[in-house]
Amino acid sequence: MYEQVSHSLLNAILDNLRPEISRQDLRHFYTRLGANFYAIYSLFYTLYGHRADFKPQMLRLVETMAKGYIRRSAELEAIDMQREQDHNWFLSQKWVGMALYTNGFAENLADLADKTPYFQELGINMVHVMPILMCPTGKSDGGYAISDYRQIDDRLGDMNDFLKVAEEFRKRDILLVLDIVVNHTSDEHEWAKKAAMGDRSYQDYYFMFDNREIPDMFEQTMPEIFPENDPGNFTWNEAMQKWVMTVFHHYQWDLNYSNPAVFIEMLDILLFWANRGVDVLRLDAVAFLWKKIGTTCQNERNAHLILQLLKDCCQVTAPGVLFIAEAIVAPVEIIKYFGEDAIIAKECEIAYNATLMALLWDGIATRNARLLYQGIKHFPSKLERATWLNYVRCHDDIGFGFDDNDVIAAGYEPFAHRKFLVDYFSGRFAGSPARGLVFMPNQATGDARISGSLASLAGLEAALEDGNPELVSAAVDRIVLLHSIILSFGGMPLLYNGDAFGVLNDYSYLDDAHKHTDNRWIHRPKINWERAENRKKQGTVEYAIFNAIKKLIAIRKETSAFADFNNRELVDARNDHLLCFIRFNHQRPSERILVVANFDAHPQYLDLEAISGSGINLYSQFIDLYSGRSPAQYERRIVLPPYHFYWLTEK
Ligand code: GLC
Ligand code: GLC
Repeated sequence: MYEQVSHSLLNAILDNLRPEISRQDLRHFYTRLGANFYAIYSLFYTLYGHRADFKPQMLRLVETMAKGYIRRSAELEAIDMQREQDHNWFLSQKWVGMALYTNGFAENLADLADKTPYFQELGINMVHVMPILMCPTGKSDGGYAISDYRQIDDRLGDMNDFLKVAEEFRKRDILLVLDIVVNHTSDEHEWAKKAAMGDRSYQDYYFMFDNREIPDMFEQTMPEIFPENDPGNFTWNEAMQKWVMTVFHHYQWDLNYSNPAVFIEMLDILLFWANRGVDVLRLDAVAFLWKKIGTTCQNERNAHLILQLLKDCCQVTAPGVLFIAEAIVAPVEIIKYFGEDAIIAKECEIAYNATLMALLWDGIATRNARLLYQGIKHFPSKLERATWLNYVRCHDDIGFGFDDNDVIAAGYEPFAHRKFLVDYFSGRFAGSPARGLVFMPNQATGDARISGSLASLAGLEAALEDGNPELVSAAVDRIVLLHSIILSFGGMPLLYNGDAFGVLNDYSYLDDAHKHTDNRWIHRPKINWERAENRKKQGTVEYAIFNAIKKLIAIRKETSAFADFNNRELVDARNDHLLCFIRFNHQRPSERILVVANFDAHPQYLDLEAISGSGINLYSQFIDLYSGRSPAQYERRIVLPPYHFYWLTEK
């Protein structure tokens, strides 16, 4: 859009750009800056226009983008251009992701590069390498407390090792996802250290208060993230004699985005990694980016504006790079991280589908799909050019953050139902085979979350201990069932670490002084690659899980109806135990896949008459893409064995 005020400011800025910048060939940069400038200016003005230093800050912002562009390699720029042309590239069904800790999955970055064949064996072509940037020993929150955003943690390697991973991945068409912890720094970050020494300009990077007056106001409405081991949202700093806002752990200082200098620093960091070959930036804890008294300090409108601004700026410099929003919040809020007022995604192209994740676990515990159905039915519709990251497990705890209205519609009382889920997954509920742990129970609110590995939560650990082959096989079926949904739902599936071969809980964190108070470490194990070899030995649990998932991935990649173009229709199967939806090819809607999954421990049937409104031909013969066979069918009823799923096409 052409608008006089911003345009004349842009001209003034361009005249003022430092000579080494203005001398470069900035053709593509200028085109994109011109296209985005009005939006960038408006957002920057909304956030910082009241400040006396608005203009110099705006100049710095443009300089940061220009500098980033100049440093972008020809190879990466070619990728940018290619992705601009094929702008829906990431909605394809061909992408399948995996998240891992470098030193859990491998020894270090060099070893991770050597493990690339494993990704190819399974079919993984997007790898989320969890935080690898410099952070203190101990006070690290698993890497989410960064002390230097531009350096690799030396326990994992150095920049060269990183560049080799990026190159190796690029050669094999594997997308590299990297975490940037945008909400807070470690208290050992240089900015925090300077602030602690009394430097006012760095104190302004954070939230600091001389006494409890303002912190107490904030506390009235702010929830606690780690109530058990880090209660409260502020930490007293002796050196400064000030209270510092620390929403997560006491050593994670929240950054103050009402200061434009913080915004520009962070943009510079994002572009730094974009220029080192990162394809997708995972922006950590984005819901928390704006703090306002009288609110929960989550999902604030300005947090969205900051993300929009980051996106617009990143598009000027490195348009091929995508953002993932890590916002584990209520369903109606998550969707806003694609961009609230936009038609096509304007914040993050990708967001964690925490709602589906929690709903799937509800299905496992209740053995029915009632809440799953309600939850999916009320999924707000998504923008174009936006996609979900569908996952079953990740490195964090599971929170049962579904919408209470859906819980009620499914026939439960919300408080009692959540308590049941926590009891079920911690194994306290009679007959539950799950081996999870309660994470951060909050006595005041009654809230609690769950830690535990996918396999242990699905009952594999208990079944193996029992030595009962039937229970083992049921647990394996549940694990495969869960994966069959994230692989067919629509969006990018994200597998976690060793889940593809059923890695169990790891109790060794209890002996580690830095970890024992945070039971999320139970599901962040070091992979035992000897055991992983079992994936090649028929008859083992590892073999059963690995080969099932591998096959699902291969079929997904060949099924264009599984691409994500808002091409899913939820179907009421009139059977509480079944989740049923149709995926269709958005270009050829007659190409359909009927996905149906039985969450029950008993066989169930799908009555085709009941779903006759869905456009499925009642008299078709069906083939299950997964087994290649027709399912057992009697008259108009398709039979699903316990914990079984079908991906059905009409013959
Ligand atoms: C994100 C991470 C989590 C971490 C938190 C604070 O939610 O996934 O592991 O504790 O941010 O950085
Ligand atoms: C909170 C945050 C989420 C984070 C988690 C850490 O739930 O919303 O972002 O992953 O804490 O366990």
